[in-house]
Amino acid sequence: FGKLFAALACTLAFSAPVFAAGKTYQVATDASYAPFESMNDKKEVVGFDVDVLTAAAAKAGIEVKFINTPWEGIFATLATGDRDIVASAVTITPERKQTMDFTNPYFDAKQLIAVSGSSKVAKFADLKNLKVAVQTGTTGDEVVQKLLGKTNPNIKRFESTPLAIQELLSGGVDAVVADNGVVTNYVANNKGAKLKTIDDASFAKESYGFAVHKGNADLLAKLNKGIAAIKADGTYDKIYKKYFGK
Ligand code: ARG
Repeated sequence: FGKLFAALACTLAFSAPVFAAGKTYQVATDASYAPFESMNDKKEVVGFDVDVLTAAAAKAGIEVKFINTPWEGIFATLATGDRDIVASAVTITPERKQTMDFTNPYFDAKQLIAVSGSSKVAKFADLKNLKVAVQTGTTGDEVVQKLLGKTNPNIKRFESTPLAIQELLSGGVDAVVADNGVVTNYVANNKGAKLKTIDDASFAKESYGFAVHKGNADLLAKLNKGIAAIKADGTYDKIYKKYFGK
């Protein structure tokens, strides 16, 4: 009986991960936010978030599939059940935490201003009477609202951050406010655009987390376990280096 029990236990132990791998979790990503998420030539979603979540999921024994999803309404896809996870450089905010659950933070960020190289803007407060482009409903939008007022027509809202930057390039606005990683990446890769960036002491530290449907404790625990594992074994550092150097 002992042997049989051992054999049975063994079979269960080995087959459990196979069962666990049965479900593929659908991941919502607004893939217009390089280096965190973008589309490559093969129309695959790639980037820092993709690598981090894929590696964490592997540690947790689950499978994830990334689906390019418009930012507007991205969180609603959790509520409807169309998506299981939002991985989209999402800042964990107290407001968002009321309607969904977040993993432990996996990346630190803050806002950054982009202006034309010849701009006289030196600090955030200088944008007070200027036109500013943001991606609708982002933390950049929130920060600019605080300075200019929520309904100020000088805030130009776009469905994606590249569109907001486009507006700056075409002269429709004086500045863009968005996450530092994305702004820095754009400026570095588009030297011809002659943009410069401005940091401001008033910008608070933000942390990115992966969002799941409120109450999905099982998936949340798996993801947190995976994140902890890739941070512990050096995988996270490798991914970080790949995208941000050093
Ligand atoms: N971190 C900011 C926020 O949560 C911007 C995220 C935008 N992400 C994206 N993939 N477009 O509001």
